[in-house]
Amino acid sequence: MAFLNEGYLKLKAGYLFPEIGRRVREYQTAHPDARIIRMGIGDVTRPLAPSVIKAFHEAVEEMGNESTFKGYGPEQGYEFLRKAIVDNEFISRGVNIDIDEIFISDGSKCDTGNILDIFGKNNRVAIADPVYPVYVDTNVMDGRTGPMLENGYYENIVYMPCKEENNFLPQIPSQPVDIIYLCFPNNPTGATIDKATLKKWVDFALEHRAIILYDAAYEAYISDATLPHSIFEIEGARECAIEFRSFSKTAGFTGTRCAYTILPKSVKAYDPQGNAHPLHALWLRRQTTKFNGVSYPVQKAAAAIYTDTGKKEVRDTIAYYMENAAIMRKSLESVGFKVFGGINAPYLWVKTKDNMGSWEFFDYLLHKLQIVGTPGAGFGPSGEGYIRFSAFANRDSVLEFTDRIKKLA
Ligand code: MLT
Repeated sequence: MAFLNEGYLKLKAGYLFPEIGRRVREYQTAHPDARIIRMGIGDVTRPLAPSVIKAFHEAVEEMGNESTFKGYGPEQGYEFLRKAIVDNEFISRGVNIDIDEIFISDGSKCDTGNILDIFGKNNRVAIADPVYPVYVDTNVMDGRTGPMLENGYYENIVYMPCKEENNFLPQIPSQPVDIIYLCFPNNPTGATIDKATLKKWVDFALEHRAIILYDAAYEAYISDATLPHSIFEIEGARECAIEFRSFSKTAGFTGTRCAYTILPKSVKAYDPQGNAHPLHALWLRRQTTKFNGVSYPVQKAAAAIYTDTGKKEVRDTIAYYMENAAIMRKSLESVGFKVFGGINAPYLWVKTKDNMGSWEFFDYLLHKLQIVGTPGAGFGPSGEGYIRFSAFANRDSVLEFTDRIKKLA
């Protein structure tokens, strides 16, 4: 008899975005002529930048030529990409990261889930609410939680409610925890964290010998020069943090797949006898055993964003999305919505109309205006009463969105 992983049986709902997709498909089938505007999942719409495409083509050509063909690459990524990342993302900001502390992967979603392989099941995990659902679900799958309670929280997770009254910022737990998930700029709320506040988290982690899993997938959307792009800008973080970055939202790689994790060799966790072990060695072992790396053409394409032209093209695309965010924000506010985020992040976190529930408002918008958002409650109980709109649509859809939203005046 084969036994299953009981963690999966504890999961209460399907993954959020497929559920939204199901409802939208059902509506579209019943209303084939409806022109639906999709502001739900944060998926990009601008094509890959010309320099990225050029590098991609050239690398594909290399793969077709015996003298330049490449088989398996290094599991942790080609050095040309890791060096470009270190030079452009870290040294340029005065942050000391070694090339071998960068691990190239096929996505931050995968990395934030996979990283749990190197952590014991007995760790007490602190997670914001609302939150990117992957952090919670992967811990449930991994057996680090009890069942879901009536309040929508899983037993054994320390939740950190993020509400309007605390500027959607998680508060430092009153009890010791071992693993802390932070995501800034935040998905879903668009909230940001300043250096002084982030320093308090680093100090807390150092005090409790905890580890911060820092998701910086949206750092490229920061326009406020005082905000940190990386947790490693904070003193002490090299001892207690692992950071996740992605080319998905930075450079349109959601379909192409390329991301990276930064794991400093100085980050340590403990065995039951209290001996410290560097996690770098464990992650390297995990990746070299379970992963064969990202394809050469994709890594060449990713490295092209660090050329002078590539940098400009990527900046222009980000500016395009952030202009979308500004247009959407203005139109929502003009008809009385309370809007958060959308300034240093591509997500707008919006209070629902007339205090409707998140899913009720989702259905209302779909049926009345044929607009798709993401129900705040899908990100956790504290997201109830909110909806998230993504600014990644094309401009025509954004303008159509503003026309339709005005009907709610
Ligand atoms: C989202 O909409 O929250 C993102 O697309 C999820 C992701 O990046 O996996």
